[in-house]
Amino acid sequence: MNAPAAAEIVVERLQKRFGRFVAVDEVSFEVGRGQILGFLGPNGAGKSTIIRILCGLLRPSAGSVRVDGIDVSRDPEAVRQRIGYMSQKFSLYADLTVAENLRFYGGIYGVRGAALGARLRHALDIAGLAGREQQLAGTLAGGWKQRLALGCAILHAPHILFLDEPTSGVDPLSRRRFWDLIHDLAAGGVSVIVSTHHMDEAEYCNRIALISQGRLIALGSPGELRRHALGGVLMRVEGHPLERLLERLRGFPATRDVAVFGNAVHVLLDAAAADDEAALRAFLAGQGVADVHVDRAEPSLEDVFVQLVGAQPREREAVR
Ligand SMILES: Nc1ncnc2c1ncn2[C@@H]1O[C@H](COP(=O)(O)OP(=O)(O)O)[C@@H](O)[C@H]1O
Ligand SMILES: [Mg+2]
Repeated sequence: MNAPAAAEIVVERLQKRFGRFVAVDEVSFEVGRGQILGFLGPNGAGKSTIIRILCGLLRPSAGSVRVDGIDVSRDPEAVRQRIGYMSQKFSLYADLTVAENLRFYGGIYGVRGAALGARLRHALDIAGLAGREQQLAGTLAGGWKQRLALGCAILHAPHILFLDEPTSGVDPLSRRRFWDLIHDLAAGGVSVIVSTHHMDEAEYCNRIALISQGRLIALGSPGELRRHALGGVLMRVEGHPLERLLERLRGFPATRDVAVFGNAVHVLLDAAAADDEAALRAFLAGQGVADVHVDRAEPSLEDVFVQLVGAQPREREAVR
C-alpha cells in the first residue's frame, strides 16, 4: 500500500469502548497532505466515532491519534482550531441568512475583521453560494444546505477536513457537485476524511478504509481493493439453467462463494492459480454441464464490500 509521504493524520491502534462495548477496535491508518480517505461501512460500523475522536470531541480508550502533528488526547483544543468538521447532523441556523450562518461560524473560530470578509467571500465562492448571501438558510434546497455547511466548516481555512456522511439525503446531481468541491479542496492541499455509505462515492476517494463492526477490514485505493482485497479470483460463468449451474458450482472444491449476477453466476475461487478457468470448465464438464462460458471478472467495490463485510463474525465480543 503506498504510504503517504507527509502524513497529516496518523492513527495507531485506536480503540474506543463505550462501557464493555468496543465501538472502534485497533484501527490504524495514515492520511497524507491533499489526500481524500473515504470511510466506507454499514451503519454502526464506527465511522462517526473515529471521526469524532480525530476532531478531539471524544477521548480514545487506547491507541494514539496525531492530527497535524498534535496528539489529540493531549491537546484536543489545538486540534479543533486546525480542522474543519461537518457532522452527520450538521447544524445550520434556519432563521439566519447564508451570510449570517457563515459569520456565526467565523465567530466560533475567531476569524474577525478584514480576514472575515475575505474568508466569507472565499467560502461563498467555494460553496457556489455567491448571490445567495441574504437567503434564509432554512429556505435552501437540500444540496445547497450541504454546501453551506461545508462553507461553514472551511471558514477558518483549515487544511484538514472531516466530513461525516456529507451527502446523505442529497440527490445524485448535488452529490456529484459536492464531490467536485471536495476534489477542489484536496487539489489545494486540504487533507480530507469523508464517510459515506454510497458505494459509488468510493471511486471518488484516493483511498478507502472499509470499516465494519469497529474494525478496519481493508485499506487501499479503489483499484487495489478491487484487485487484491478479495484474496481470490472472481469468475463469471454463463450457462443455463442458472439454478443447476449455481448448484454444481457450489460443489467445486475451490469455490468460496457463488452468487447470481444478472444472467450469469459469479464464483469466488480460493487460490489464484493460472489454470482456474480450465479447471472449472473441466469440473463442470465432468458434472454434465457443458456449453458454459467461463471468464475472469473484475470485482466491483460492491463485490469486495459484500464479501468482506459478510465474512465477518456476527457478534462483536465484549472486552474482558
Ligand atoms: N456515546 C455512545 N455511547 C454508547 N454507544 C455508542 C456511542 N456512540 C456510538 N455508539 C455505538 O458505537 C457504534 C458505532 O457508532 P457510529 O460510530 O455512530 O457508527 P457509524 O457512524 O459507522 O454508523 C454503534 O453501535 C453505536 O450505537
Ligand atoms: Mg455515522
